[in-house]
Amino acid sequence: MTTSIPDRWGTHPDHIWLRGIRPEQRVQFDDKRGLWHVYGYPEAVEILSDPKVYSSDTARLFPIDIDESLHEGDVTHMDPPEHTKMRTLISSAFTPKVVADLEPRIRAITHELLDEVEGQDRFEFVKALAFPLPVIVIAELLGLPASDRELLKDWTYKITESKSPFTLKDSTAAEEKTNLQVFDEMSRKLNDYLLDHLTERRKRPREDLLTRLVQAEVDGKRLTDNEVAGFSSIVLFAGHITTTLLLGNTLLCLDATPDEAVLVRDDRSRVPAVIEETLRFLSPFPATSRATTETVDLGGQKVPADQMLVVWLGAANRDERQFERPDVFDPSRDPNPHIGFSRSSHYCVGAPLARLEGRVALNVLLDRLPSLGVDPDESPVFFPAMDLAGACVLPVRTV
Ligand code: HEM
Repeated sequence: MTTSIPDRWGTHPDHIWLRGIRPEQRVQFDDKRGLWHVYGYPEAVEILSDPKVYSSDTARLFPIDIDESLHEGDVTHMDPPEHTKMRTLISSAFTPKVVADLEPRIRAITHELLDEVEGQDRFEFVKALAFPLPVIVIAELLGLPASDRELLKDWTYKITESKSPFTLKDSTAAEEKTNLQVFDEMSRKLNDYLLDHLTERRKRPREDLLTRLVQAEVDGKRLTDNEVAGFSSIVLFAGHITTTLLLGNTLLCLDATPDEAVLVRDDRSRVPAVIEETLRFLSPFPATSRATTETVDLGGQKVPADQMLVVWLGAANRDERQFERPDVFDPSRDPNPHIGFSRSSHYCVGAPLARLEGRVALNVLLDRLPSLGVDPDESPVFFPAMDLAGACVLPVRTV
């Protein structure tokens, strides 16, 4: 007998797909916000696969002009050919080997963090492990001092909280404009901090990702300082909260399906599939955005040019036209073509790292805490942001 996660704990009210709701119209105009929602899988894939018509440069629709020099390395909002150049250079520095080499360190950090809660019957999972693990890993990967962890946590948290994919140029909401100002201010601080570090790397190269990015060269092209700083800050906030949520969501999914929890505990070869199914079933980063460059026919709707589209990856991952029994958490589905890391040219750069962190952390948790489960007496708190799905507070029990 399983209980649905939203029924038991109450997830974000707008994440309707988590309750098994599939809107009849998979592409809908939202009068209130002046943008389009896309809930279907084939429609989402169509958008993600065509950057000419569905541009990632959504900033031109924002209500204030943000300082573009701070976002030169922001791959997420680039279109070809700039995007292709950036991705080629990034891939030459952030290689599969760089990620694979992190495995022992991720395991050691997970153990260190769990040592802190050793012997406790109950603890708060996000504070103890899910929040610190990704930020420590990314800071070490980039080569930033461990003593700056709190500072980095604070900046990434504020940047993540202050920007939403629903912000529009003609928005009258003062709150949205204030949020974007906070976003700009925090981005500037983080950018200055990273520029200081990379200037230092040019003088004294080290064995870290910042140095590799500074030195990266493909066909005679190199990244500028602003591009390295911009990309590094994207890594910090794109790779942090999302991974925090993945770790918590994995626990929530296993807690809601005790049979699966027993299976994976006894057979660790199932761990990667549990992580994949969590990415589909409770997608940590359920939305991304694109701007139309021309009038398009999408999902039976005519969408004019210069419209903001919110592509609900989480809803697409529950589309019954793509997945059989979409509302069942079933790690044995094979293939599992979820788009929790997006699709095509903007496919998540950090997917191998997120998968590795998920796999290592889950294995260590299963090894050390045989009775780990969500605390039945204390409800988790879900992130209030619409583009994040998962717990920001997750009380667990160990006995
Ligand atoms: C569970 C964890 C994660 C999830 C669910 C996730 C999800 C995503 C998604 C959906 C996109 C594409 C958005 C789009 O198409 O507009 C993306 C892009 C990106 N992610 Fe992740 N991500 C995760 C972890 C990470 C990590 C650990 C890093 C870095 C170490 C990272 C770095 C990036 C970067 C740099 C991009 C931009 C790629 C581009 O635009 O070309 N992510 N991520």
